[in-house]
Amino acid sequence: MATLNYDTLIPNNVNLSTDRRLQRALEQWHPKFLNWWLRRGPKDFQTNEIYLRTAVGVERGNWAKFGFVRMPDYRWGILLAPAVEDRKIPFGEHKGDPVWHEVPGEYRGLIKRLLVVQGDTEPASVEQQRFLGHTAPSLYDMRNLFQVNVEEARHLWAMVYLLHKYFGRDGREEAEALLERTSGDADKPRILGAFNEETPDWLSFFLFTSFTDRDGKMQLECLAQSGFDPLSRTCRFMLTEEAHHMFVGKSGVERILARTCEAMNAADISDPGDVGAIRARGVMDLPLIQRKMNFHFSVTLDLFGSEISTNAANAFTAGVKGRFHEVDITDDHRLLNDTYPLLQNVDGKLVVTQAPAISAINARLVDDYIADCEKIVVAWNKTIAKSNIDFTLSLPHRGFNRQIGSFAGLHITPIGKIVNDELWAAVSIDCLPSQEDLTYILSLMNATLTPGAYASWIAPPKNGVGGKPGDFEYVRITS
Ligand SMILES: [Fe+2]
Ligand SMILES: [Fe+2]
Repeated sequence: MATLNYDTLIPNNVNLSTDRRLQRALEQWHPKFLNWWLRRGPKDFQTNEIYLRTAVGVERGNWAKFGFVRMPDYRWGILLAPAVEDRKIPFGEHKGDPVWHEVPGEYRGLIKRLLVVQGDTEPASVEQQRFLGHTAPSLYDMRNLFQVNVEEARHLWAMVYLLHKYFGRDGREEAEALLERTSGDADKPRILGAFNEETPDWLSFFLFTSFTDRDGKMQLECLAQSGFDPLSRTCRFMLTEEAHHMFVGKSGVERILARTCEAMNAADISDPGDVGAIRARGVMDLPLIQRKMNFHFSVTLDLFGSEISTNAANAFTAGVKGRFHEVDITDDHRLLNDTYPLLQNVDGKLVVTQAPAISAINARLVDDYIADCEKIVVAWNKTIAKSNIDFTLSLPHRGFNRQIGSFAGLHITPIGKIVNDELWAAVSIDCLPSQEDLTYILSLMNATLTPGAYASWIAPPKNGVGGKPGDFEYVRITS
């Protein structure tokens, strides 16, 4: 494999200089990308030096170099994980065949669509998080936000590289369109619903990176199984970056919980429902966090699409998009005769039925995703339990507040009961964030820009980042 070359405009380990046409095409896209970054990326802070990590190799655990960088100077590179020698297609009707190094003609449309949808989410999240720098609860958190942002932008590069290299003029047009759609725009919105929601505050950001970036991880894991090897290698490297985004989310929520519990104990408040007294301390009450969690989790579940899906079945059979941890699953990886348990609405009751496994690929991925989310909720609850506060967070039922898939159109409570319109009106008031909640959260959003200082509603992190302590000046504000 080519070593990573940082001497060129576009750092890469794909021997870009040997393909002049591709190099020129990407060099023409580059200023458009920068223009997008400056217009739609982080608002301000573009001339501040930020302590960021940049990928300088692709070997596991050995690729991140930390240093002060101004965001527009960040070296967005094209990085593929090392090729696995003799890799075979692990699933679908081509199972056991050597992987493809070019796009098979018959799957061109399918693969292009997957790249475009994945590629669209990457700049979308940067756009959603555009204003958060101004309300960062600390320089440590501001730095983490910008790290996530530059890496999501690199993920855009990753998809754009594949579009340019393998899809000719079509690919170039799609790469342009990725810079033209905008999160939340009425005329040209981003493709998927959750990526048009606002991320107006830091609780939203931490829940987004906990839940929605985790959906990103699931999708990348499935694409990393792909028989189209360049896609597999691209996604494998993206996953190493994704891990940090989810860490930012999970640890961010943990720190909010720790601070709330600490403030409650300090004021001798044992009832988590004593909202007035708790909010008077400038922290986020636990029921509020639960309601926000209900929202982010349910909106993210909609990203998985319909539980029963012909598209997902086709992508699987084609060998283009596999299942989570495909190679560890002990079945025939073709799913011609298998069934999969599926929760469905039958005459107003939710019952488990058996569906053809090939049709239920998305349902299975949702199960894997929920299992992954359960783990972070267990960790969050440990933080609460350690403080001796009697409150448990829980994921709402998968059918709660859904707009897409087999639960759309049903009113399902967080514990999984189907209710009528009237009851639902009460449930949604109790279980989803109210305007008052959102106003309260926003009232807490003020920037804390002194090194080592943290906003009232969040505890300091256990450790700093990149070998630096928590009170390090991660963003040089005055320079
Ligand atoms: Fe990403
Ligand atoms: Fe991410």
